[in-house]
Amino acid sequence: MSHEKIEKNVGLMGVLIAVAISFGGLAEIVPLMYQAEAIEPAPGVEPYPPLELAGRDIYVREGCYGCHSQMVRTLRFETARYGHYSLAGESVYDRPFQWGSKRTGPDLARVGGRYSDDWHRVHLMNPRDVVPESNMPGYPWLATTPLNPGTVVQRMRALRKLGDPYTDAQIEKAAAELEGKTELDALVAYLQGLGRHAPRPGARADAAAAGSPAGGDAP
Ligand code: HEC
Repeated sequence: MSHEKIEKNVGLMGVLIAVAISFGGLAEIVPLMYQAEAIEPAPGVEPYPPLELAGRDIYVREGCYGCHSQMVRTLRFETARYGHYSLAGESVYDRPFQWGSKRTGPDLARVGGRYSDDWHRVHLMNPRDVVPESNMPGYPWLATTPLNPGTVVQRMRALRKLGDPYTDAQIEKAAAELEGKTELDALVAYLQGLGRHAPRPGARADAAAAGSPAGGDAP
């Protein structure tokens, strides 16, 4: 009997299980790849300028996502606190995206412009200096670590290969833009850019027409 054959052959059963499971993935993932609003940038969204790109990499390296999400969900208490819910088209140039799910600290998707650069500097060096009850760790070494412009240029080239529309001119002047900057400068620039292209409050109807929430059916 063929069923018995499968049950007695672990290798064959493994392959067949993988095939069965992949149907679920295909049904969920493949349609998304062809859904324009999930893969096209929202109005005004462009690849990160070099300094912010460098900052984003530091954000990933330091594991900030372990405590911070970057996705405002479509729930009233979320939009009341953070602003317009996140749209998929806002993070098309995020590789990998930083939506996250762990919120020890607040969501950061709309944090840009909420505080001054100086506030962020002090906060990142030692959060307790501005928020006494904070349990966020300090990152004092960022202020004394210079950026490596060469690696950022390489990253821009690599991202262009993946489809990010960086121009030759942008890549050529990137190294000069990063000269003399520290990792702290880059991280602050990145944070200040978060949410820059969020639809303004009151633009709800337009935004709903222009794109689906990031994460598709995430609650
Ligand atoms: C151990 C968890 C933890 C880690 C790791 C962490 N944070 Fe935080 N963060 C918090 C908490 C808790 C708060 C709220 C208290 C405060 O403002 O310090 C916060 C607040 C913030 C705020 C202010 C947000 C607001 O809306 O008031 C920013 C910006 C921020 N963190 C950025 C970062 C960055 C950048 C990193 C990585 C370099 C990072 N955090 C790593 C826990 C964390």
